[in-house]
Amino acid sequence: MLIYVPPHPLLKHWLAVARNAASPSALFRSAMAEIGKILLYELSRDWLETYEAQVQGPLAVANVEVVDPTKPISIVPILRAGLTLVEKAHEVLPTTKTYHLGYARDEKTLEATKYLDKLPKAGFSKEDKVLISDPMLATGGTIVRAVRDVLDKGADVKNVRVMCCVAAPPALTKLSETFPGLVVYAAMIDENITEEGFILPGLGDAGDRAFG
Ligand code: PRP
Repeated sequence: MLIYVPPHPLLKHWLAVARNAASPSALFRSAMAEIGKILLYELSRDWLETYEAQVQGPLAVANVEVVDPTKPISIVPILRAGLTLVEKAHEVLPTTKTYHLGYARDEKTLEATKYLDKLPKAGFSKEDKVLISDPMLATGGTIVRAVRDVLDKGADVKNVRVMCCVAAPPALTKLSETFPGLVVYAAMIDENITEEGFILPGLGDAGDRAFG
């Protein structure tokens, strides 16, 4: 498994804002949206396909490259907190399709339970590029189940990417053992998780901080 942590100063800046317990909900959400935007630029760099075309410019005809609108990236935000990272996806990516997945983690057992599944009924093709968004990978229970859901719908792991804000070692170990071909983009790899399943230093409860 490959994990990228882009060394971008703006990523560090917005992560500092998100980590700050004094940041109110609106500021926390803005910071997460900015982090998502930067990660989207980074992960789409070698992922989006273009085709060659010509446009009539003010002075001359120009040879150009255009992102292929027939091949949208499929975005799978894991509710609730996964929504925050993709809030600005439409500003970065010319065409997307969004398929929501809802998972809630039990506070005592830390087991994730699925409560919503809007993955495409017709499934994905092996060529479809699928991006799963979840800001926190803690024990890894939720993200492993979400990747499995996407693969069960026909996607090829080579074309699946995970975008997160902070990733903890237990989740990365579980993901790499289960899906060696996966690619993960993170703003930061954090130290560990507490017995209660919170990432340290982490962000606290991102879903509650964003949505109350
Ligand atoms: C959080 C987080 C991840 C999950 C991570 O969601 O956004 O989805 O927990 O934990 P894991 O790696 O141990 O499975 P939560 O269940 O709190 O839901 P929420 O986003 O609705 O708050």
